[in-house]
Amino acid sequence: MARRRPLAAVILAAGQGTRMKSERPKVAFEVCGWPMVRHVVEAVRGLRPERVVVVVGYGREMVERALAGIPGITFAVQKQQKGTADAVKAGLSGLKGFDGTVVVLSGDVPLVRTETLRTLVQRHHRGRSAASLLSVVLDDAGAYGRVLRDAKGNFVGVREAKDCSDEERAVREINSGLYAFDSDELRSALRAVRSNNAQGEYYVTDVPQILLRRGKRVLAVDCGTEDEVLGVNNLSELAEAGTRLRWRRLEELMAAGVEIQDPATTFVAMGSQIGRGTRILPCTVIEPDVVVGEDCEVGPFTHLRPGTVMKNRAEVGNFVETKKAVIGERTKAKHLTYLGDTEIGAGTNVGCGTITANYDGKNKHRTTIGNDVHIGSGTVLVAPVRVGDGATTGAGAVVTAGRDVAPGDVVVGVPARSLGKQKHAAVKATRKGGKR
Ligand code: UD1
Ligand code: MG
Repeated sequence: MARRRPLAAVILAAGQGTRMKSERPKVAFEVCGWPMVRHVVEAVRGLRPERVVVVVGYGREMVERALAGIPGITFAVQKQQKGTADAVKAGLSGLKGFDGTVVVLSGDVPLVRTETLRTLVQRHHRGRSAASLLSVVLDDAGAYGRVLRDAKGNFVGVREAKDCSDEERAVREINSGLYAFDSDELRSALRAVRSNNAQGEYYVTDVPQILLRRGKRVLAVDCGTEDEVLGVNNLSELAEAGTRLRWRRLEELMAAGVEIQDPATTFVAMGSQIGRGTRILPCTVIEPDVVVGEDCEVGPFTHLRPGTVMKNRAEVGNFVETKKAVIGERTKAKHLTYLGDTEIGAGTNVGCGTITANYDGKNKHRTTIGNDVHIGSGTVLVAPVRVGDGATTGAGAVVTAGRDVAPGDVVVGVPARSLGKQKHAAVKATRKGGKR
């Protein structure tokens, strides 16, 4: 039986990430719509730890902002980036008095799943281990730390690639940067870490060996999935992680009944929801915080930005961009349209080339469109403006700010003027190019 121990997590996110060649802190780079570090935080939150401490330092404000709004996390500051052991020390300063298991994660391993972390913690507890690390065997071990074992296969330590002999560098089992430690053993071993290595840094990877020398039990758990431990240290690895996460997300959606015609050109960010029976056509980008209902159609060439809500059976198509837009049931906007800060009722048709002009150069304003409205092709709705239920706008109409269209009214022209409520007469008149 595994021992039950209180659980806390420390996430290392204080480094700059010099190999990214950017001023932006590495863990704030986005992967599949979320900052890299958020993926790690969400994965570990799945274990329901009592506490989650994120270690910040370089670009601290940006990293804290990247995690704003996620409940139950606290930040600890590592003033100077002296290495991962020093970062863990900073993290532990946020866990004073905690006695239990501390899961330590690099903030740059965004593909890790909760299930894998759970396996690590279970193995750690079952093995009554002082330290356990997740490893995996790779074809090309690259710049990862190598997991060293003796002739009998017992774990003997981790060696950073830069400190390896040629023989050690040939080892293909690598350290994922994901660990479980007994809190007391970790605190005590960290005091013994020295910086006499190629980079002159304090390595957390020295902790397992220190504990082994003290006669403690240490485990290297092979997680068997190369995918999850991909560490992101440069822009090429960032793209690789993005591709893998994107496919993972699309597979999950397809398993849940979302039809995706061309996964190769479909991007669906984390933190968005898509209902069953919805069809996504090629070249579609769906950002975080988007909710698409059931039996909708999205695409081809559609961009749904944060705050978009599509109710059931709504359809948006070619070159349509939406932002903070609620699109009612069965409402359609099929071509060349921008809908921003907009709410549209049910059964409305938004004609080709419609634009909600939501920005006056200083402020954003809202557009409200009712049920069963017919927005003619090329209409510009200058917000703030309302179009009532059952109303019609003629092709090319410019409905100016504050000139609300009454329910059932027909408006045409620039700026749009009322033709009264006789829908059929109105349409005839506009066709003749008549009365304005
Ligand atoms: C680290 C491991 C390596 C492992 C690899 C897995 C060490 C010494 N090496 O190497 O064995 O194979 O991860 O991906 O731990 N950080 C801080 N403060 C610091 C330094 C780093 O918070 O002073 C953070 C970074 O922001 C990053 C994480 O720690 O999120 C790992 O640092 P990184 O420099 O990426 O280590 P690797 O070289 O990848
Ligand atoms: Mg790394």
